[in-house]
Amino acid sequence: MALIKKFRIKNLKGDDPIIELKNISVFYNKREIINNLNFKIYRQEILGMLGPNGVGKSTIFNLISGLKDPNYGEIIINGVNCTKLPIYERFTKFKLGLVPQYGGIIHDLTLIDNLKLVSEIHINKKEARKQKIEKLVGQFEFEPLLNIKSKHLSGGQKKKLVIAMALINDPKILLLDEPFAALDILTIKMLQEVILNLQSTEEITVVVCDHQARDLLNCVDRAMILSNGKIIALGSPNEVISNKIAKSHYFGEEFNIN
Ligand SMILES: Nc1ncnc2c1ncn2[C@@H]1O[C@H](COP(=O)(O)OP(=O)(O)OP(=O)(O)O)[C@@H](O)[C@H]1O
Ligand SMILES: [Mg+2]
Repeated sequence: MALIKKFRIKNLKGDDPIIELKNISVFYNKREIINNLNFKIYRQEILGMLGPNGVGKSTIFNLISGLKDPNYGEIIINGVNCTKLPIYERFTKFKLGLVPQYGGIIHDLTLIDNLKLVSEIHINKKEARKQKIEKLVGQFEFEPLLNIKSKHLSGGQKKKLVIAMALINDPKILLLDEPFAALDILTIKMLQEVILNLQSTEEITVVVCDHQARDLLNCVDRAMILSNGKIIALGSPNEVISNKIAKSHYFGEEFNIN
């Protein structure tokens, strides 16, 4: 697939972090999962996270959203230390949107009722709710699926629904945990375009992880490669691909994005 990201946000080099993880360590049953992690996510950038199964990518999303407390370290969002801030406050105060790796929908509700439910929580005015849902239904081509119970949707359709639900509150920071998993080629392309569009028109910041390394690298400004609880490479897609340590621990010698 051709490189999608044809431009990089110019002001990325300016030091304007919207999220900062400082000296973060996480243990599960004395097993260290994340080892003194430090990184910044800049306003309006798309940051990709890559790394093998179990390296801690979902844990990082949980730390940012508040689903998991770190054993050590601080999480700063928009300059505010929110290490102790509960989940709901982070979501409302900083307008977070989360697409979890699994779940995220109510299986006994139809597709349209899942969208309506989330819109009722986030949007006060009836007309604005209607417009938002109509926009998402068109964008994600949900028309034929509106009245199907979510448990009967295919894996990819479920994933698309969760992504649409995460966009209802016009997030300023969008956390996408494996959004491309189970999606077909054209839907991945559509989603990449949605992400890039949100970045340029709504100025949102996106953090995304996925095992579809090519699809991910094609739409991010910077990528971070994790291995054994640490960052082993961080930079533009071309920089991380050519990084020797990232090659030997993650990409292998043959990998390219073209
Ligand atoms: N509640 C928990 N109790 C014990 N161990 C856990 C718990 N949650 C996560 N872990 C462990 O933490 C590590 C990191 O898990 P995490 O889900 O963050 O990995 P990941 O990088 O998202 O992996 P994948 O690519 O498979 O989704 C794994 O070894 C996992 O077994
Ligand atoms: Mg995961």
